Amino acid sequence: MKRKDFLKGAGALVGGLAMSRDLKAADFNRMLRDAAGRGDEFYWDVIRDQFLLDPEWTYLNFGGLGSSPLPILNSLSEWLRVEERAPSAGADAKEWAAAKAKLASVLGPSCKPENLGLIGGATEGVNAIVNGLALKKGDEVITSTHEHVAVNSALLNRMQRDGIVIKLFEPDRVRGLGNVDRIAALITPRTRLIMFSHVTCTTGQLFPAKEVAKLAHDRGIWFAMDGAQAPVCVPFDIVDLGVDFYTCSTHKWLMGPKRTGFIYVRTGMIDAIRPMTVGGGSSQVVDIFKREFVLHPNAARFESGTQNDALFYAMGKACEFVQSIGLQRIWQRAHGLTEAFVAGLRAIPGVELLSPEEEAYRTCMVGFRMKSRTMNQINDQLTKDKIRARPVGEGGLNSIRISFFLCNKSSDVDLALDSLKKLAG
Ligand SMILES: Cc1ncc(COP(=O)(O)O)c(C=O)c1O
Repeated sequence: MKRKDFLKGAGALVGGLAMSRDLKAADFNRMLRDAAGRGDEFYWDVIRDQFLLDPEWTYLNFGGLGSSPLPILNSLSEWLRVEERAPSAGADAKEWAAAKAKLASVLGPSCKPENLGLIGGATEGVNAIVNGLALKKGDEVITSTHEHVAVNSALLNRMQRDGIVIKLFEPDRVRGLGNVDRIAALITPRTRLIMFSHVTCTTGQLFPAKEVAKLAHDRGIWFAMDGAQAPVCVPFDIVDLGVDFYTCSTHKWLMGPKRTGFIYVRTGMIDAIRPMTVGGGSSQVVDIFKREFVLHPNAARFESGTQNDALFYAMGKACEFVQSIGLQRIWQRAHGLTEAFVAGLRAIPGVELLSPEEEAYRTCMVGFRMKSRTMNQINDQLTKDKIRARPVGEGGLNSIRISFFLCNKSSDVDLALDSLKKLAG
């Protein structure tokens, strides 16, 4: 059976494009099961058909910005309509809680909705963490040289405002656990916070979380992670990481609507972090006459003001979408493509792989450079071949980052390699 007929039969193709808004989660799961019975490539092609990505282009930049597939877009548009039909300030408590519960289940079996605050993205979360902790002049914060501008800005801002001291470690890309030693070497009695990416935006390096959590906790140091690049890109259990604070933009690998994200606060740590933005929704008691103010005793304290609820309900749909495929299955597919690309890169003369040498610390993003080529020259070639990648200026790398995800296929790996071979040639 042709894929088009298959999708039509499943009610998933209307007018050659839009997935039926009536296709319920159960039907979608059945469609995926049927597709799986027709072979791996058929299955992944059916998934790929859910995306509006321009077929003229090869999109290898989920690390930059995700693309929401049709079930999520449809959910968003339905919720927007619901909201516009009967505008009402304040979220629907049941739907809001349901979205959070769905997100919690993506983040691991013991993550609880109360550990999570729904916010606009990692930039917001990073700022909530860096500004919310009681840091004062001379307190030291350890971070890596491969952080996103979000972390760098928040730390530098606090440095200028309050005189915190920033200490940097260069990621060890040869030995993943070498990063624990590099961090340990920077700890002094003034160290209060260790904060870095779970997966770096530069080379897709997975940092060891559990080992650093132990190191930090043994010394009474807070441990926070910028997880913008991690959930759904790599499978993990957030509670098991042992991290105190964690934040993520769910518009990348989770494929939720843009401007959605979360902050996670480990059970028992909520009083260590005070929100810098508060308002309607962030407190249990607010009484200006009695001078009483009691924040929520959980991460809901980071949610304040009028929300665009539809975004978060559709983010809940994104959680259902990835779970109906399976986080492990997504990982195997995306990481498999990435490893094929890494193997191909190694065979191109003049290519320097910047991603970790140990596969256990590589994810679904690869960082590399080419001898005598700038990142812009490489990116120009990729663009000429209609491949969307991401030049990386961070950390002075002057490199390229390529991301592979569930809607990519092995021919995308070949296209990218062929494009790079032209430069090497
Ligand atoms: C590691 C990392 N942190 C933070 C961010 C900022 O995310 P946002 O712009 O969605 O807030 C990004 C975005 O690419 C990122 O890769």
